[in-house]
Amino acid sequence: MKVLGIETSCDETGVAIYETGEGSGRLLGHCLHSQVDLHAAYGGVVPELASRDHIRRLPLLLEQVLQSTALRIEDIDAIAYTAGPGLAGALLVGASVAESLALARGVPALPVHHLEGHLLSPLLSADPPAFPFVALLVSGGHTQLMRVRGVGEYALLGESVDDAAGEAFDKTAKLLGLGYPGGPQLARLAQEGDARRFKLPRPMLHSGDLDFSFSGLKTAVLNIVSGADWRPAQAADLAAAFQEAVVDVLCAKALGALKKTGLKTLVVAGGVGANRRLRDVLDAAVGKRGGRVHYPEPELCTDNGAMIAFAGAMRLAAGETRHASPAVRIRPRWPLTELTAPGATRDQ
Ligand code: KG4
Ligand code: ZN
Repeated sequence: MKVLGIETSCDETGVAIYETGEGSGRLLGHCLHSQVDLHAAYGGVVPELASRDHIRRLPLLLEQVLQSTALRIEDIDAIAYTAGPGLAGALLVGASVAESLALARGVPALPVHHLEGHLLSPLLSADPPAFPFVALLVSGGHTQLMRVRGVGEYALLGESVDDAAGEAFDKTAKLLGLGYPGGPQLARLAQEGDARRFKLPRPMLHSGDLDFSFSGLKTAVLNIVSGADWRPAQAADLAAAFQEAVVDVLCAKALGALKKTGLKTLVVAGGVGANRRLRDVLDAAVGKRGGRVHYPEPELCTDNGAMIAFAGAMRLAAGETRHASPAVRIRPRWPLTELTAPGATRDQ
């Protein structure tokens, strides 16, 4: 079965084709257009511009992915698309195109949860993790720890009570005068800094649960940069101190989640999962406990169509079918824990 995946939940248009197979499937091709340049002048994503750009790019990317895989639209057996969470107007573009194509072709349309896409994306790597595992989801909108028993079987262990980790990176980058998107730029600047030159809090490190809080950390940075002693030349040190504080808390809570569940495998997904320092610290800490951390391939860390095609394909293979219907349904707010497993219940 060949599944086309369409992602348009925020500022990336992604299209991919995944083929399911006996034992293991494979990603046949994927194309991506990032709107970073479009939104950079505004310092953040402008929803209306995002929707319009998805409309412009999607047909071209669809053509491109079919060409690169030497397939025709007639070869596609199902169409998966991001139905939420995300920006309503942006989601509607992918949902409308996917549902219309599915209706025209008479194939199932599969609405996919964006975070399920992220969460399952490490399974696309050459050496995929096996269920069950703990997932640390760290994106621009979410910071969550999940116990994952299988596709659609997600139990929330902890989450951020305020800002998401990526959001904290972006807002702190802004305070340091860096451009959009802030996360990667702050991480780059931090490489040149000394994290020990500033003392920043580790919010909720000893809260006794697996929840996070990042807004106080951002305020601590604000207090420093608006203080009388602040010199812009210290930006790299402050960026490094901020990154270290976020990484410390993410690592401590992820270890707490492994301990609580008795599991040894940690899966990290979402944009912040691309952070080099986070990876190094997690690898060392989890490795010391005899466990292992899995990440998506670097190009699949941030939003993309491959993870949507894959999540749709996993659900299709597990027995989920959604017949084409003219109803275009999106869920801009959609808790991941509302998902259920497709098909039969599994043991364990
Ligand atoms: O998963 P994603 O592409 O989009 C959402 O679904 O939110 O994540 C984007 C987030 C942004 O906040 C971005 O600044 C952050 O991931 N990010 C990073 C890095 N690369 C992306 N944060 C820290 N270090 C990075 N290297
Ligand atoms: Zn995302």
